[in-house]
Amino acid sequence: MPLPSPLRVHLRSAGVSLVVEVPVRGLPVVLHWGDDLGALDAATASTLSLARVAQPMPNQVDEPVRVAVLPEHHTGWVGRPGISGSRAGTAWTPLFTVTGATLDGQELGEWREQGPGSLAVEAVDEDAGLALRLELELSAAGLVRARAALTNTAPEAYQLDDLVLSLPVPQRARELLDLAGRWGKERTPQRRELQVGTHLREGRHGRTGPDAATVLHLGVPGFGFAEGEVWGVHTGWSGNHTHYAERVFTGEQLVGGGELLLPGEVRLGTGETYTSSWLHGSHGHGLDAVARRFHRELRARPQHPRRPRPVTLNVWEAVYFDHDLDRLRDLADRAARLGVERFVLDDGWFGARRDDSAGLGDWVVSPDVWPDGLHPLVDHVRGLGMEFGLWFEPEMVNLDSDLARAHPEWVLAPGKRLPVTSRRQHVLDLTDEGCWTHVRDQMTAVLSEYPIAYVKWDHNRDLVEAAHRGTGRPAVHEQTLATYRLMADLKQRHPGLEIESCSSGGLRIDLGVLQHTDRVWVSDCIDPFERRQIQRWTTQLVPPELMGTHVASGRNHTTGRVHDLSFRAGTAFFGHLGLEWDLARATEQELAELTAWIAAHKEHRSLLHSGDLVRADFPDATVELHGVVAPDGSRALYQLASVGRSEVSLPGALLLPGLDAARRYRVTPRLVGGPPHGLVRPAWWPADGEEGPVLPGAVLTRAGLQAPGLLPEQAVLVEVTATA
Ligand code: DGJ
Repeated sequence: MPLPSPLRVHLRSAGVSLVVEVPVRGLPVVLHWGDDLGALDAATASTLSLARVAQPMPNQVDEPVRVAVLPEHHTGWVGRPGISGSRAGTAWTPLFTVTGATLDGQELGEWREQGPGSLAVEAVDEDAGLALRLELELSAAGLVRARAALTNTAPEAYQLDDLVLSLPVPQRARELLDLAGRWGKERTPQRRELQVGTHLREGRHGRTGPDAATVLHLGVPGFGFAEGEVWGVHTGWSGNHTHYAERVFTGEQLVGGGELLLPGEVRLGTGETYTSSWLHGSHGHGLDAVARRFHRELRARPQHPRRPRPVTLNVWEAVYFDHDLDRLRDLADRAARLGVERFVLDDGWFGARRDDSAGLGDWVVSPDVWPDGLHPLVDHVRGLGMEFGLWFEPEMVNLDSDLARAHPEWVLAPGKRLPVTSRRQHVLDLTDEGCWTHVRDQMTAVLSEYPIAYVKWDHNRDLVEAAHRGTGRPAVHEQTLATYRLMADLKQRHPGLEIESCSSGGLRIDLGVLQHTDRVWVSDCIDPFERRQIQRWTTQLVPPELMGTHVASGRNHTTGRVHDLSFRAGTAFFGHLGLEWDLARATEQELAELTAWIAAHKEHRSLLHSGDLVRADFPDATVELHGVVAPDGSRALYQLASVGRSEVSLPGALLLPGLDAARRYRVTPRLVGGPPHGLVRPAWWPADGEEGPVLPGAVLTRAGLQAPGLLPEQAVLVEVTATA
């Protein structure tokens, strides 16, 4: 039964309003997504609906086109449709009629206004043989999310080619910012003007990818970290996916995204349903506000890690594949002395895995390298008071492995021929129940035998020609779901287990995988100069406590650059701190400095991992300032870094963002492990051991303090504490 009259709902939360109309004909339309509109009533909402109708202009369809969350072609919309698909060329332009709508599970009346909420709309097109369930939510953090589930109700199969959700953005927003990148340089920002047409970012890596848009923003020209109204969307999916922004000839603008389906990948039999990924939308004034909504949302997850993030040592850049018990025990001793709390054994502990050519897929401890199993190392690590973590790459296989020899049919391939190798490996077909169960059982056996607190879950290649070997049909969609299912199953079997999402560094970072994981490995490039940029933009989606940030050796393994320890440690300081360095090669002075950095991190991590992120819009590109402010405004920690040589000798005033204008704060530089080489102190800077000046928040934020002189690639911490 169609609705007798339109239904409207106004959700308000954390400064955001989402006003939605469920029309009599067609699918729900967002009337407003943006700043809080204040309280409305039914009559005002009805007038708002009228006020938002764009009148037909010459040579357009005769009725106003209202663009739904799932844009519908039948309305006359000639932009990107929400659903593309057909039943052998029919049923390709559905016209859905809403048959029911609920808000938080209760039937929705004609008008409802409340705080956060979850709207669910059921709709059918009987002629097309399709049913749809559309969910649209506003969370306590003010984040919007939407997804759709499409069911084939007809006797013949329906092939779904594309399903994208979208949100409207007003025409004053014309500047795009999204992220790109490559291995070792993930999440590099790029900006351009949105003109008529579609700005489409496709991810076809079969994983999130190094060049994922991550968050696609559309904002008023010139928006920065602190200012300028911005709307951002993120597709929460770890397989192929899209993000897009569209400006059509009528002036209408949308941002959206969804899963990218390969040819014939989703063919719905009678009664079968495809459920899309979630599209997340974050609105704010400035990029920091957009980022903080994502952070609050992630922090509100029941499974969000609440205990202090253990300082971690990962052995990869220390020993690579060279696993030697005595050397690793010695590394553990050194780590424990520095204050490390978790020790992670990386690639190379299993099967015939002595390099990257063999053994992948055989999750059995290598008797050659570990004749007594991992026990001597695990016991030693735990005896030192540290947790033990272990590396797996569950979705992958080397052809030179017992698994591939026994089950060649478990390798994803388009038929008889195999896809091109990458890092000498192939992808396992986890959609095959036998394969999935085998991997799960092998992992469970290891996780049951040893007290393992943490799995570093790696994924080191793109899914190229990823198809079920028997049928040749594309498998990325189901493979992504099977991976999520495997993570969930292991967590359920091993309560308390933490999982890190790693993929050739930071190539699987999205809100889909973050439903199942507790940390992301940000990048294989630990060079602090590169890392600063990668981390700065990773925080656009991910809060610092979920980002693995390590201190590596003086000469970086990826770039060959050499940096002072204070710059390396300072760059890792704000995230989930770790080391990835052969400590046997560190000097006594470096070890003493490192001890100080780890102690300082532990002292501040409750603030770093719960506070509000702030990044300054510094006019001089050679200077960076970012920080974390306690939610109650009582304290903050900032870092000023020099990342180049400016044409002027000093960068000017340090404006400290995010402070309470009315409170007074003491400002104290923290020179962990000693002053950085070449530091030139400004006049206000206190002598060592003395307290810094006290100033009102308004002065610190608006007038600021003279910045110290720093050599390139040096950084200092500045602590700010409210005095009353
Ligand atoms: C890629 C990861 O990003 C590295 O940290 C390391 O775990 C290697 N894989 C191991 O093969």
